[in-house]
Amino acid sequence: MPDTGLQTLEFTTEIRRATAPIYQKLRRVVPEIEWAVHAPYVAAINELKAELNAIVLAHNYQTPEIFRGVADLTGDSLALARQASETDAEIVVVCGVHFMAETAKVLNPNKTVLIPDLEAGCSLASSITAEDVRKLRERYPGVPVVTYVNTSVEVKAETDICCTSANAVEIVESLPGDRVIFLPDEYLGLWVQTQTKKELILWQGHCEVHERFTAAEISSYREHDPGLVVLAHPECPPDVLEVADFVGSTSKMSAYIDDHRPERAFLVTECSMSDNVALDHPEVEFVRPCNLCPHMKRITLPKILRSLQTGTHAIEIESGMARRARRAVERMMDFQPAPVTAH
Ligand code: 13P
Ligand code: SF4
Repeated sequence: MPDTGLQTLEFTTEIRRATAPIYQKLRRVVPEIEWAVHAPYVAAINELKAELNAIVLAHNYQTPEIFRGVADLTGDSLALARQASETDAEIVVVCGVHFMAETAKVLNPNKTVLIPDLEAGCSLASSITAEDVRKLRERYPGVPVVTYVNTSVEVKAETDICCTSANAVEIVESLPGDRVIFLPDEYLGLWVQTQTKKELILWQGHCEVHERFTAAEISSYREHDPGLVVLAHPECPPDVLEVADFVGSTSKMSAYIDDHRPERAFLVTECSMSDNVALDHPEVEFVRPCNLCPHMKRITLPKILRSLQTGTHAIEIESGMARRARRAVERMMDFQPAPVTAH
């Protein structure tokens, strides 16, 4: 679908002045020549947000000019779901992929939830259908079903409880019985399997971005740089996770860097993650063999502006479906990990 109605805006002296404080925060990762292109949109979006009582949520994989230029709330999938449920804004623009916008709508049925590009999908979400989940239930009667939030609303509606990579182990552990159907990310499931005695029944969904990393690539970086700290997202294949120093969701990687401040780090994940973390950590050098998520990268400043101006693309979900999906998402959000007790 060609993108129509995207405006071209000019970088005036007034805009340069008005956006200078934002550019100060970004200048280490956004060259000045690029800022001239971004700044007019950043100014227009921020103005329109205030006028419309709108907020912008941005996932950690959004580019820095979105992440720091126009986003009101940022984070991993879990944080975005929580923040979406707490906002007072009337309009929520989700800068992430389609399942994230659907989750925001499920939690905010009376608000307008917009995604700037409807084609921003996810290979995990498209790997499984509601019918697939129903068949698995028939095959494994009584076994609880956990689905990763990277799924469509139809799949969530068939699920007992959702999880993200930040809470998957705890959610699986909290369920009754010895077996759990864990969908659809096989690699995340295999990683969870290393940390639980329950038997996981898995699906063969993969993230097209993380499955491209290889253990050989990481080992060769390590060989040349023994001090390198390797942090990997659990959507990576098991042999990659095995050679990593730390495995965690995007927000857990970020927290690791905050706490440990390594001299050099390799975030084995989507490219913008390193840029966004680097903004807060000038002391850390980020080694960047990374992979781009083509879906996340469909979200751009001109499309965010159009989204606010025209109300495209509003997420609509049939109310019965939304109610059933909400139950699974809210169970996840209500879930509190057991407090750690001293021996
Ligand atoms: P996080 O929940 O870790 O942010 O991951 C979402 C995602 O899509 C990773 O590819
Ligand atoms: Fe989906 Fe992978 Fe892109 Fe995340 S990085 S949105 S899991 S395709």
